[in-house]
Amino acid sequence: MSMTNVNTTHNFAPLKNDRLLKALRFETVDVTPVWMMRQAGRYLPEYKATRSEAGDFMSLCKDTARATEVTMQPLRRFDLDAAILFSDILTIPDAMGLGLYFETGEGPKFKRTLRTEADFKQLEPFIANDSLSYVMDAVTSIRKELNGLVPLFGFSGSAWTLATYMIEGGSSKDYRFTKGLLYSKPEFLHQVLAHVNAAIIDYLDAQIVAGAQIIQLFDSWGGALAHRQFVEFSHQYNKQVVAELKKRHPDIPVVVFTKGGGLWLDVQADSDADCLGLDWTMPLDKARVIIAEANKGSNKRTAIQGNLDPATLYGSPDSIRQAVKLMLDDAYATGEKTGYIANLGHGITQWVDPDNAKVFVDAVHSYQL
Ligand code: CP3
Repeated sequence: MSMTNVNTTHNFAPLKNDRLLKALRFETVDVTPVWMMRQAGRYLPEYKATRSEAGDFMSLCKDTARATEVTMQPLRRFDLDAAILFSDILTIPDAMGLGLYFETGEGPKFKRTLRTEADFKQLEPFIANDSLSYVMDAVTSIRKELNGLVPLFGFSGSAWTLATYMIEGGSSKDYRFTKGLLYSKPEFLHQVLAHVNAAIIDYLDAQIVAGAQIIQLFDSWGGALAHRQFVEFSHQYNKQVVAELKKRHPDIPVVVFTKGGGLWLDVQADSDADCLGLDWTMPLDKARVIIAEANKGSNKRTAIQGNLDPATLYGSPDSIRQAVKLMLDDAYATGEKTGYIANLGHGITQWVDPDNAKVFVDAVHSYQL
């Protein structure tokens, strides 16, 4: 059984930098908290070195000491306000028996797909602490290594996003088979989504018990849905994840990031998520207004996170500083100088010069509140 008081399981050091958690509670912060999606990764030469020692990406995820090491690497270079567990969203489909592998230059692939009732029946039973014990070991190890430096994010993909990978058998541009099921066998797709969602809840619960201090749900392909289908096939499942986590761990903040979901912020505000992540298509001043309007009449406040175009980091240091200033001006346009976490609008890419990532992080902290 999971307990609300997660710190009774392990004896972790108290947080030295809780700026990001304060911003989520709309408390006063000295400067804007910042982290980067995919902050551990191939743009860092030290990451590439550790991955080659491990052999391949999945071996790196399963190697507790090396997964801890690559989580810490960006924190040594940059003044980040959060760490994120080194793992992947595709660990759940892998544990369900689909056989995840990576083909160089082609992204993730699965040996088997999930498209029929027969495929569904063949899925391995999922119990987070058994099926993905290596992830919980990494969480606990990272939390110890951090020693209170910054809070640690745990994460999962959303049901919709994981289902697209399971059904397509890898990345996709058009989601042909997933959308095919949506329009031809919606009950079956719901059966898949409900099954995956139960695993996500169990998985995130286990990460919290292992030491995760904040959770992000990556609905990376939510924006591929038509507006009439977003609530039914993605949002309602995400909302259920948040509600269940809040029941079990009321003090653990949850960020929901639906890439391409800016148009549906009013809809997304209808959950107990503490924060909504935004990609670069959405002006932050507009986002604040829409969320405030949607929350009117309740005493709920929803923070925002994002949303610099990751490609900005291909520009000059001065152009990065200018873009950060414009973004923060938007985020604080209402005059309220909290409730906001600076980030990129999606993951940092492998082609970014690490020095430019440092310019981004430092520019956020230099902005006078
Ligand atoms: O630093 C961090 O953010 C923590 C680690 C992390 C990874 N993947 C490591 C990784 C996180 C949070 C993820 C999430 C993830 N994985 C998402 C959601 C976030 C998003 O970008 O929308 C998705 C869609 C995936 C699926 C995935 N995993 C893809 C498409 C790829 C290959 C393409 C790519 O961007 O590299 C991966 C592999 C992967 N996951 C790598 C890393 C560092 C690269 C693997 C390598 O070392 O070659």
